[in-house]
Amino acid sequence: MKQVHLRLRERPRSYTITIQSGLLEDLPALMAKKWRGCALFIVTDENVEKLYGRNLLLRCIDVGLNASLLFFPAGERSKNFKTIHALQTALLENRVRRDSLIIALGGGVVGDVAGFVAATILRGVKYIHVPTTLLAQVDSSIGGKVGIDHPLGKNLIGAFHQPSAVYVDPLVLKTLPAMEFRNGLSEIVKIAAALDGRLFSSLEKNAPSLSRENASQLMKLIYRAVELKAAIVAKDELESGLRSVLNVGHTIGHALEAATSYKLKHGEAVSIGIAIESRLAQRLGLLSHHERTRILATLTALKLPIRVPPLKRMSKFFTVLSADKKSLGSTIRFSMLAGIGRTAIDVRVSTDHIAQLFDNSND
Ligand SMILES: NC(=O)c1ccc[n+]([C@@H]2O[C@H](COP(=O)([O-])OP(=O)(O)OC[C@H]3O[C@@H](n4cnc5c(N)ncnc54)[C@H](O)[C@@H]3O)[C@@H](O)[C@H]2O)c1
Ligand SMILES: [Zn+2]
Repeated sequence: MKQVHLRLRERPRSYTITIQSGLLEDLPALMAKKWRGCALFIVTDENVEKLYGRNLLLRCIDVGLNASLLFFPAGERSKNFKTIHALQTALLENRVRRDSLIIALGGGVVGDVAGFVAATILRGVKYIHVPTTLLAQVDSSIGGKVGIDHPLGKNLIGAFHQPSAVYVDPLVLKTLPAMEFRNGLSEIVKIAAALDGRLFSSLEKNAPSLSRENASQLMKLIYRAVELKAAIVAKDELESGLRSVLNVGHTIGHALEAATSYKLKHGEAVSIGIAIESRLAQRLGLLSHHERTRILATLTALKLPIRVPPLKRMSKFFTVLSADKKSLGSTIRFSMLAGIGRTAIDVRVSTDHIAQLFDNSND
């Protein structure tokens, strides 16, 4: 078992991320130790409900816990107010109280939605993350950013609400579709390229052989990515500066997701975002040609996309880019790679400059 302690300035909000193969099996016993007497609400999506949710509910009931299960259709399209409202109604009908606990069991969508419901219902109840995608295990379950999308852009409605604990079980990745596994790898490439040259070199070396079957290799990767993210969140919980290093690839990535009406998955969009932003970084003299080549080669070896798909609505891309939380009028603020393992924050680029990049983005 491995543990990472995320120590926040406000001590009571600190929490532990536990990573252990088979942890999901032990969860009911852990819950019974810590949360007996509270009403537990497992929130998940329709896929994860069938794979793990139902079983978790039964095992929680078996150990005498007062647990119920709520679920919604899987996918980014559920990250909206309709889902939030339906969950809030179900919780209120089932007599949620201030001392109830929400268990977010699923990928990044479940985590963001369940976390936002936890942040808002009765002005905030406690919740824990049990992430079941690689992306959620290494990224979205850590740091307390929760929220939903708006037609004007991704993640524009939300809150900071830290979980009380995160339980990561790499064994659940065995059922994850290969494409979803790759999506998670793109966030690991991001965090490595942004913060840890050694981790990047190891990814680069192992990319062709990386698989879910290699449990020890996977455990090491997840642990290091979690450690890196937790260290950043500990220093800048509310993203007033340093935490924005984690936005590498995301400024372009978020706009691509919205411009393709979410046909592009988050991880794919981030991968293309890293590729396009690396091109921008090279033009700005922040990244060398060799470094950019290494980044593109690693993404490609991991079977991640690096080219922008044909966009029917380029105008939508720029509308979303300008609605980004990081934009200032016609200037977009980027967190940009400044070498492998180094990031420059608050790099300002005009939308005209970005448009030029797209004219020949598939060079
Ligand atoms: N809050 C944050 O800090 C943060 C960070 C990164 C990404 N995100 C958000 O995360 C979301 C993307 O998350 P995601 O990629 O996990 O997508 P997702 O939650 O949609 O999960 C992907 C698919 O995998 C299925 N699934 C989940 N676990 C499974 C398992 N173990 N076996 C089989 N199928 C499984 C889901 O049902 C879904 O169909 C985006 O909305 C993104 O904005 C948030
Ligand atoms: Zn992301």
